[in-house]
Amino acid sequence: MHLNMETSVSVGDLSLYFAFVILTLAVVILINYGGNYPASFPPGPRGWPVVGNLLQVAKGDGLYGNLLKFRQEYGDVFRVQFGQQTWVFIAGHKAITETVLKMKTTEAGRPNWLYTVHTVLQGKGIIYSNGVLSAAARSFLFDALDEAKEHIEKSILANCTDIIRSIGEDPDSLSQRLTETEFATVLSLITGERFPTASDEYHRLRQLFDARNGGLTLGNPQNLFSWLNTFYRGKTDAALEAQAKLIKDLSDLLMTRMEQVDHRSECLIDSYANQLKQGKLKNIDKTHIFLTMLDLALASKDSLLAMVQWTLLNIANNADVQSKCRQELLKTILSDDKLWTCPAQLQPERFSNPGSSDVDGKEAKYGLGSRHCPGRTLAETFQYLVVSSIILEYEVENLTEDKSMDSYFKSVLRPKAFNLKFNKITN
Ligand code: HEM
Repeated sequence: MHLNMETSVSVGDLSLYFAFVILTLAVVILINYGGNYPASFPPGPRGWPVVGNLLQVAKGDGLYGNLLKFRQEYGDVFRVQFGQQTWVFIAGHKAITETVLKMKTTEAGRPNWLYTVHTVLQGKGIIYSNGVLSAAARSFLFDALDEAKEHIEKSILANCTDIIRSIGEDPDSLSQRLTETEFATVLSLITGERFPTASDEYHRLRQLFDARNGGLTLGNPQNLFSWLNTFYRGKTDAALEAQAKLIKDLSDLLMTRMEQVDHRSECLIDSYANQLKQGKLKNIDKTHIFLTMLDLALASKDSLLAMVQWTLLNIANNADVQSKCRQELLKTILSDDKLWTCPAQLQPERFSNPGSSDVDGKEAKYGLGSRHCPGRTLAETFQYLVVSSIILEYEVENLTEDKSMDSYFKSVLRPKAFNLKFNKITN
């Protein structure tokens, strides 16, 4: 009897408890369903409780395809709810210029509180630092990149020889070769050394950088719900371990370069060593400068590859433009001093004009305002040297039936599968 009574009381309590929980959930769901945003927020798709629009963006055309659909429906500025985070997307030149230049959104800072970003970087490095740290990283980087310009040209050119050879041997390996050249260029920019892409050291470094960059991918689930790190901590741990090894390598290299007398700055480590010797940057944490160097591999990843692929595809689709480019290049090489100042010198900037300011609002592909891309000169030099080396040796033909130039998104916007043929120029 006594037992029965106790049971009936506890069941009653439980039902009351569950009823309360369900009622609370219902209220939360009602409040959240369809979003409860301040009036100043841009429009966006209705989201589900807790997950927001995650299920919508994951299905069908994937993240990029769905974002394009949202743009069509809600305009150039729209919001999307990823779990508990509200992201605002800005698309198109006009909307980007207005937001970045007029509203100075770049000064609002980068989201360095995202779980993996915060765990791995602790607010340091260039991409995810803000305020004084980001200003110091940018100032160091712009000076160092300027000093390394000539060395980088030589390093890219050395790789161009391998690219040309590999096209002759196996044209299908071009993308692979470009990816290797992209990474080799950044390594050379940081260390001043040229690592053959078949060497063990190149592969060791590649693995370390990949592990580190993998931990910083924004799409890691724990960036949406930090408690998910319990299940996905492997990537974060691997990134931390790889980063520690890379920092140790850079510290050792710095010590060696500091010991060398009157060393000309050709790479970032040299610039850093020389600035320290001159008493500059002494008050800035070494790890911050090292992470700034490592961030270049993350920021440049796949962008140079995609840029060269787009350029080759465009010139393959426009045979007349390709032929004109080849003629111009030959004129430069044949030293026509009526056409070029200092024709004997390799000056890629005469084509790409990298000295022009990004902030004049005419174009936004390298970003605008105070956080615009520091890698622009390197990117355009890479594009010019690689593409011109190829078209001087080969006539590039697009064999793809569908010439629509469709794209897909995988960390950057890439051309959909295309089939290029490289015809060796004989005369
Ligand atoms: C096709 C090539 C490239 C394009 C289109 C590109 C574009 C961009 C854009 C749009 C931004 C963001 C700007 C902003 O937030 O306002 C950016 C940032 C950045 N880019 Fe590039 N980039 C390219 C190549 C590179 C390369 C090769 C490097 C390094 C060697 C690099 C290093 C960086 C860094 C470090 C940042 C962050 C700057 C900061 O946070 O202050 N980029 N880039």
